[in-house]
Amino acid sequence: MKAIYLIGFMGSGKSSVLRLVAEKMAIPGLDTDQQIEQTTRQTIPEIFKSQGETVFREKETDTLMKMPKTDAVVATGGGIVESEVNRSWLKENVFVVYLHTSLAEIERRLGKDESRPLWKKHDKTALYERRMEKYRQTADSLIKTDGKSPEQVAEEIYQLI
Ligand code: S3P
Repeated sequence: MKAIYLIGFMGSGKSSVLRLVAEKMAIPGLDTDQQIEQTTRQTIPEIFKSQGETVFREKETDTLMKMPKTDAVVATGGGIVESEVNRSWLKENVFVVYLHTSLAEIERRLGKDESRPLWKKHDKTALYERRMEKYRQTADSLIKTDGKSPEQVAEEIYQLI
């Protein structure tokens, strides 16, 4: 089975859905951000602070290229689609599910979240709109998550496969 990769904006629920899908399908569940934190022994905010976004993006691409192509479910960071290399890798190798969440719902979910460097920093509307096009282009399938529980979204993914 091709691995299932979850893409979507910060706060779209990728990590919660990941755990549920992995459990339901009895396959490993992996997370690119967690892998980066394990290999660098730094948190994502620490990497952004000490080395900047460009270095983080390099680490993100290195990590993605080492992730499984079969029999796993993988949650990616919201910015994974910023790189053309990443988008091509995803399209060529794995089954990509875009968790689509409206910006209003994301704002409700994240509020004043301090753990996401780009959530604090950016003009959220511009970032959201720019990325949405890339998520759509990269995905094999789109699931709307507004008003749904992670359990409902996981069930929809399960039905897709
Ligand atoms: C980022 C999203 C984060 C994390 C990093 C950058 C982004 O992951 O990779 O803070 O560029 O949108 P989540 O989507 O899991 O919040």
